[in-house]
Amino acid sequence: MSDVAPATPATAPDTRRGFASDNHAAVHPEVVEALVAANEGHAPAYGADALTAATRNRFREHFGPDADAWLVFNGSGANVASIDALTRSFEAVICTETAHMNVDECGAPERIAGSKLFAVATEHGKLTPGDVSRWEARRGDDHFPQPRLVSITQATELGTVYTLDETRAIADATHRLEMLLHVDGARLANAAAELDASLGELTTEAGVDVVSFGGTKNGLMFGEAVVFLRPGLGEGFEFVRKQLGQLASKMRYVAVQFDALLRDDLWLRTARHANAMAGRLADRLAELAGVEVVHPVEANAVFARLPRPAIDRLLSDWPYEQPFYLWDEARDEVRWMCSWDTTEDEVDRFGAAIAEAVASG
Ligand SMILES: Cc1ncc(COP(=O)(O)O)c(C=O)c1O
Repeated sequence: MSDVAPATPATAPDTRRGFASDNHAAVHPEVVEALVAANEGHAPAYGADALTAATRNRFREHFGPDADAWLVFNGSGANVASIDALTRSFEAVICTETAHMNVDECGAPERIAGSKLFAVATEHGKLTPGDVSRWEARRGDDHFPQPRLVSITQATELGTVYTLDETRAIADATHRLEMLLHVDGARLANAAAELDASLGELTTEAGVDVVSFGGTKNGLMFGEAVVFLRPGLGEGFEFVRKQLGQLASKMRYVAVQFDALLRDDLWLRTARHANAMAGRLADRLAELAGVEVVHPVEANAVFARLPRPAIDRLLSDWPYEQPFYLWDEARDEVRWMCSWDTTEDEVDRFGAAIAEAVASG
């Protein structure tokens, strides 16, 4: 008889959900199916397999014939590797104060890419062309970090979306100063769904040079991509990716997930649904005294202010261990995030719970 302890018995899956993050969502069944189908036999490692080659081509269908896509593990890695690839030691990145790379990557861009970030205060998380050109005065001054990359997030960290014209105007301001435009597209799909635009229209055709394209928040188990959109920009990126620990040995499992996402427009179906659920929640709140939605709801997030006792009640009463994040404690501001697997029924029950919590004073 074996003296090895038996594995923990399987329990029924916990089907409860919250509104904390699209990262809390399960993996989409079509992605699971694709993973299972790929899980046969051997395949060359480190991206030398046929599935990875096919997936890189799949990116070209969406982003245009020059798209040069490199698969990585996570979004922070995609951002840091993009910066590292496109800046020299004395060059800087212009981004927003609320940018994930500024506040949620633990200083990785500064430590690993070695780039200074010029973080700009914004309204609703969106950079403007003026934010790009205002650093121009000290270009050429050897005491000052030289701006080289502009990074915008689409959809933004505050659930807003740049229109195609807004993106184009930022790209023009960026290129006028011989800089490059990066898009943190952890939620690019949600922006495309909102604008009813293709991924190429949103990026390549609007003047974007490189994208960190998200998969994890939109139904993948894990995986993001750095997509260079202009010939030559991705040159040597395979070395950067490896140095930064973002090269998967069993690459086929990242590739097959993206293939599933980009095939048959799964990326769009999931993003449209998540956005619709956020819109539905915002509609539920529109008439509710005591709740103020603080940013336009244009993607899959709702940001709101409400009395602190109501927040505390919701956090303790909603039957899921981390129902949502208290985004800005000082302002009693919360973030409610929807994902591909949020249901209408959950939104309606959550809306009712918010109404009840606010009414209880
Ligand atoms: C705007 C944005 N960029 C990038 C990321 C990716 O981060 P991670 O390194 O957790 O995959 C996130 C995740 O929260 C995000 O919200």
